[in-house]
Amino acid sequence: MGLSYSERLNLVIPGGAHTYSRGDDQFPSNAPQVLSKGRGAYIYGPEGEKFLDYGMALRAVVLGYAQEEVNLAAIEQIHNGNNLTRASLVELEAAEVMAGLIDSVDMVKFAKNGSSAVSGAVKLARAFTGRELVVRCLQHPFFSYDDWFIGSTVMNKGVPENIKKQTLSFTYNDIASLEKVIAENPGDIACVILEPATSDEPCASKYFPGKTFLHDVKHLCEKSGIVFILDEMITGFRWDLQGAQKYYGVTPDLSTFGKGMANGFSLAAVVGKREIMELGSTKKSGAERVFLLSSTHGAEMSSLGAFIKTVEILRRDKVIEHLWRYGNELKTLGNELAVKHGISEHFRFMGPGCSPVYVAMDSTKNVSFEFRTLFSQEMIKNGVMMPWIALSYAHTKAELELTKVALDKTFSIYAKALESGVGRFLEGPPIKPVFRKYN
Ligand SMILES: Cc1ncc(COP(=O)(O)O)c(C=O)c1O
Repeated sequence: MGLSYSERLNLVIPGGAHTYSRGDDQFPSNAPQVLSKGRGAYIYGPEGEKFLDYGMALRAVVLGYAQEEVNLAAIEQIHNGNNLTRASLVELEAAEVMAGLIDSVDMVKFAKNGSSAVSGAVKLARAFTGRELVVRCLQHPFFSYDDWFIGSTVMNKGVPENIKKQTLSFTYNDIASLEKVIAENPGDIACVILEPATSDEPCASKYFPGKTFLHDVKHLCEKSGIVFILDEMITGFRWDLQGAQKYYGVTPDLSTFGKGMANGFSLAAVVGKREIMELGSTKKSGAERVFLLSSTHGAEMSSLGAFIKTVEILRRDKVIEHLWRYGNELKTLGNELAVKHGISEHFRFMGPGCSPVYVAMDSTKNVSFEFRTLFSQEMIKNGVMMPWIALSYAHTKAELELTKVALDKTFSIYAKALESGVGRFLEGPPIKPVFRKYN
């Protein structure tokens, strides 16, 4: 017998994929090991097996896979050469779209990966302040593949000690924890970085009535000359067309976008205030130069064409409203089904409507990777890949109905596993967290 797809992948690619969250240890054993294509809200295995998808390319696809108008816009730029010798017209237009769309954006630097964009923001903050320390939110799982961030995780092998020491952390929705880090490192902190929200949204402000935790963070940053960075990789183009910064009414100094920007085409951006972004400029005579992002493929024209078209469609079709509506309906019907099966104490849909999450718990109500795996495994048996929940415009009534049927069947097994032990129902090893010290 020949090798499986997984064996072949792991033979030639460390981790078996180009993102750890796409690896074997992130999915139940019955998940397709490789995918051949995506269309709308569906993905297909190599033999044409079809699944309704809630992974949506790690949230990069917001309109649906292979959206025709976006594809055509990208192809038009491919026909224009895809990469030219000086800045391209579409590069100018795309930067103007971004600057025109979001209030906090005076200038834009595009990149191919979110990691590069976020590291670009950190570099700018260090250059702007002349300080070295970064303070990042501990609860937010990922900012960049670069050492400044990876050194602050448990998977920090290969990162020099001096770099590990330069990233500190604070706790989301606990302003005292940030006040403490700032007080302990007076004048040494270059930036504070966090996502505006995840499944946890900002709590009420300690200082400003009617405002949020994010406003408190901004206030502390302002007081101490620290650059306030919001990483909108996930929230951007989902919470609001103008980002979660618009949704929560807070203005960062710098922010970073990616994922949903170009409906799966490779594009990210660091954006923000002119006085900080301009450090990367070549126009300030005599100013010391900062090597901000500079790469051969940073402004690949097909992705930029896809971005402009994606923004046009997001606005035209009121896609963000659709995401909120669908997500709220999904949460309601999912939680009702959990009640029907008597498992509502052990399985819950929650989080913002545009980006719901599910929490799988065991019989003692502790969060459980085994039960999460069982849930995912049973959903796959019923034609639905739900490793997490990323919504798209292609998730419509029919997809909600399909999800309902799959949840109903999955929950009946979940209820049995709560009674007689999850081990009897799991068909392979449980999924594991990406950030762990050992394999
Ligand atoms: C909040 C956040 N920031 C940054 C990144 C890095 O983006 P990319 O994978 O495009 O490098 C991610 C990716 O998962 C992310 O979720």
